[in-house]
Amino acid sequence: MKTQSNEFKKRVVYQIYSSSFYDSNNDGWGDLKGITAKLDYLKDLGIGIIWLSPVFVSPMDDMGYDIADYKNINPRFGTMEDFDELLEEANKRDIKIVMDLVINHTSTEHEWFKKAIEPEENKYRDYYFIKEGKGKKHNKMPNNWQSCFTGPAWKKIDSLPGYYYMHLFCDTQADLNYYNEEVIKEVEDILRFWLDKGVYGFRCDVINKIRKSSLKDDHTRPLYFKGLKYYSNQDNMFKILTRFRTEVLDDYDTFLVGETGELNKEVGNRFLNERCLDMFFEFDHTNADKTFLPVFKGKFKTKKLVKPIFKWQKIVPWIALYLENHDQLRSVNRYGNVDKYYKESAKLLALFLLTLKGTPFIYQGEEIGMLNYEQVKYEDCKDVAAIYTTETVQKLLRFNRDRAFKIVNETINRDHARVPFAWSNSVNGGFNAGHETWLKVNDLYKKINVKDEENDSNSILNFYKKMIRFRNNDDVLKFGDFKDEYVKKNIVSYYRNYEGKIYLIVLNFSDKKAKYCNLLNVKTLISNYENEIDFNDLPPYFAGIFEVI
Ligand code: NOJ
Repeated sequence: MKTQSNEFKKRVVYQIYSSSFYDSNNDGWGDLKGITAKLDYLKDLGIGIIWLSPVFVSPMDDMGYDIADYKNINPRFGTMEDFDELLEEANKRDIKIVMDLVINHTSTEHEWFKKAIEPEENKYRDYYFIKEGKGKKHNKMPNNWQSCFTGPAWKKIDSLPGYYYMHLFCDTQADLNYYNEEVIKEVEDILRFWLDKGVYGFRCDVINKIRKSSLKDDHTRPLYFKGLKYYSNQDNMFKILTRFRTEVLDDYDTFLVGETGELNKEVGNRFLNERCLDMFFEFDHTNADKTFLPVFKGKFKTKKLVKPIFKWQKIVPWIALYLENHDQLRSVNRYGNVDKYYKESAKLLALFLLTLKGTPFIYQGEEIGMLNYEQVKYEDCKDVAAIYTTETVQKLLRFNRDRAFKIVNETINRDHARVPFAWSNSVNGGFNAGHETWLKVNDLYKKINVKDEENDSNSILNFYKKMIRFRNNDDVLKFGDFKDEYVKKNIVSYYRNYEGKIYLIVLNFSDKKAKYCNLLNVKTLISNYENEIDFNDLPPYFAGIFEVI
């Protein structure tokens, strides 16, 4: 067993959405050479680990989360030599690379799937859930499960009349069958392939759904969630992940972070105690601005964001911290104040993210306060989940397409955070040299971009740099215990404590002045306002770290 450095507990992670980071060859797509070219930017920001969204061979129906070859690079992103160069250059700067591990499903263009649906029976048939339809004519789906993107989870196979395959996501993402020992071995082989190359670890896509317990119909839940109880967090899923650890991962200094929905205290602890994952992303806090049906926008409430985060701070010893990723809308639009307190609220969110216990994940653009892409039209939409959901809303509510899309665009459309990154205010925000981009650029680049942020000492970017540097060099923020104080109206406060040193963090999530009853003797360490602070009169969106003395 290799000694584990647990470096993931000391570093800040930066997620790169590979298609939209930097287009070095001006073909409209971000690429690996583009990422290598920007490593110094990330180093300067204080980043210690990069999570690279999928760069494997893929038809890109779900932007690379539909893999057709796990061991080769999608030519859109470059070559394996480009990947090796990225690893080497990152290594020189002491930045580790984490890959996306998408093993719940493969693309239907994967060789395994192509063979699986050949009329002649072969071993690959059992790599997937390929089942005969119900009814005399076998023309009914094997069960009533729904895809997580809405719509049925089964699709007919033309080459095998009467047969269907299961897809929990879009219909070109076929679910793998983890009852099959060979599938498990294939995954172990993929893990070794990338770890041997020097990759540090993996972000495991929808990992809590890889094992289905049965293929029964489910009549107990609303349409949207049919089947969930048969495929989320199944006992055997934990066992498979523990096996990956003992069979493969223990031979390397590595870590796994999992994308894990439908959590509770017991499930969360099982992931860590059974060594399945080193940390996971919880989703409870992402409903802070939604109604009970996530497709409908609700009014943002501070407590709906903060309380779930506090809850998880106390349940597990370590967690993945995030406010944004490629599946979420931009955080300043959701939890901040874009109009009057844009800068202050963006900095408040930065301070919040970087003062909690766990590993912070920053999503590209978050550090410059990038905002949603307001002008998205249905015709421009590239997000397969938004397209599926628009269809479903159309059907269920009998809305026309544009009205349905308007609803989806406010909550679900993932294009908002996927537009090309804004490096400067030159053409296409400096993402490339002017070639049409795969997804339209957000015109806001004229106001919000790296270059302008770098030149402004009071910018959001410079605040992130300051905060990350502070955290990188501070054991209280990295390792300290967490203790919440309160979430009252919009005032949030908590403590971090390490070897007798105590920090108090105070946040005002509102556009009004507010009072925080401070009874302690404290000194300011960092805040998003320049002047000394009066606790009885905290300015709007104030955020500060204080040392208790
Ligand atoms: C979660 C990923 O983050 C998302 O982008 C993807 O669409 C689904 N899993 C399916 O792989």
